[in-house]
Amino acid sequence: MSAALFSPAAPGASPSASPGSPELRAQFPILARKVHKQPLIYLDNAATTQKPQCVIDALTHCYTHWNANVHRGVHLLSQEATEHYEGARKVVAQFIGAALPEEIVFVRGATEGINLVAQTLGRTQLSKGDEVLITGLEHHSNIVPWQMLCAERGATLRVCPITDAGELVPGAFDALLASRTKIAAFSWVSNALGTVNPVAAMCRAAKRAGAITLVDACQAVPHFAVNVQELDCDFLVFSGHKLYAPNGSGVLWGRKALLESMPPWQGGGDMIASVTFEGSTWNHVPHKFEAGTPDYPAVAGMATALQWLQAIGLQRVQAHEAALLAEATERISAIKGVRIIGTAAAKASVLSFVIDGVHPHDIGTILDRKGIAIRAGHHCAQPVMDRLGLAATARASFGVSNTSADIDALVEGIVAVQKLFGA
Ligand code: ALA
Repeated sequence: MSAALFSPAAPGASPSASPGSPELRAQFPILARKVHKQPLIYLDNAATTQKPQCVIDALTHCYTHWNANVHRGVHLLSQEATEHYEGARKVVAQFIGAALPEEIVFVRGATEGINLVAQTLGRTQLSKGDEVLITGLEHHSNIVPWQMLCAERGATLRVCPITDAGELVPGAFDALLASRTKIAAFSWVSNALGTVNPVAAMCRAAKRAGAITLVDACQAVPHFAVNVQELDCDFLVFSGHKLYAPNGSGVLWGRKALLESMPPWQGGGDMIASVTFEGSTWNHVPHKFEAGTPDYPAVAGMATALQWLQAIGLQRVQAHEAALLAEATERISAIKGVRIIGTAAAKASVLSFVIDGVHPHDIGTILDRKGIAIRAGHHCAQPVMDRLGLAATARASFGVSNTSADIDALVEGIVAVQKLFGA
C-alpha cells in the first residue's frame, strides 16, 4: 500500500505547507467563500473541521476509481477497495502508535466508539455495586453511555469534580478510584473549556486501581501527537470529522487482548465467521466489531487527512495553535466586560468566553453577520456549564488554517457586539 494511494494531492497544493500560511489556507476551498458577503473566518474547529482539497479528492478518487464493497468480492474493484480500507487501518495504527492494525476498529465517530465499549465490555464486566469513574469535564458522549450502562447493571457513576478554572480538583481523581472502579473514562482535552488533562498520570492511577481506561481523544488527535502505547491506556476514541477527515469516519483503538475478550456489539454481515439458524460464530478482531458495509470512502479520506497532518507536522501544528490560543487569550481577556471561561494552566485550541450583558447566542449571531463562525451554547457539555453557573458560552476554537488576522477579526467583532448592546 503506497502512501500516494491516499494522497491524490490537489494541483498546486503543497501538503507540507506551514500552519496558517497562505499555501496551507489555499488547500481549504471553503475558505474562499463569503458568508453574509464577508470573507469566512472559521473558528469552530472543535465542532467540526473544514476539509483540505486532498481529503475531498480522496472521496472523489474512491467513487471515480475503486468504489466496491470491501471484504466481499472476488472482482478487482472489491479487492482494491479492501486494499484501501485495510491500508487505511495501517495508516491510522501508525498515526497513533498502535502496536497492531487489528487494534483499530473503524466506527462512525467517538460517540459510537464509546457506546461500543460500554455495551460490550461494560455489560460483561460490570455488576451491581461496581463503579465507572468519569470527570466533570466530559462531553455528553462520555457521560450518557456510562449512565445508561450503570442504570442497566446497577452500577454507580462517579464524577471527578472540577475547579472554577476548569481543572480536575487536585487529588480527586485518584481519591475516587476504588476497588469497585471497573472503568475510568475521561477526555484528554475538554471540548468546552480547552483544559488538557494529565491523562498519562490518570491512566497510571486507574491501572494501579485495576480499572480499564478509555480516553476520549477527539480534541487531542487534531492538535498534537498521540501515542497510545506511551499513554498506556486501554481504549482511545476519536472522530475523523474533527481532524480534517470526512464525516462518518472515526476510530476506536483497543488493546487486542481486550478486544478479543469482548462480545460483538452489532450483528450482521462481516462480523461473523459462520451463520446457521442454530447460531453464529464471530469473525476475528477488528472485523467482529464492524458489522455491515463500512464507510470505506470516509475511512480512505481519514487516512489521507492523517497523512496530510503528518506531512505538515504535528509539532508545528501544536506550536501554531498554542501561539494563537495565547494571543487570543491575552487580547480577549484585556477587553473590559469579557471573561474567559476555563483558565486551566494547560489548554489546547479552545477559547470559551462570555460578554457581560450579552447572551452567547447573540454573540454568535452577530459575529456570524461578520463572517465569523464560532459556537455558542453548552457545547454538548451541560454539566460543565452547570458547574460554572452558566447556561452557555461563546467558543472560538483554532485549527491549522487559522491566523492572527482571524484573531484581529474576532477581537473587532467582540468590540462591535459590546457597542451594539451598549455593554
Ligand atoms: N462536540 C462538538 C463540539 O464541541 C460538536 O462542538
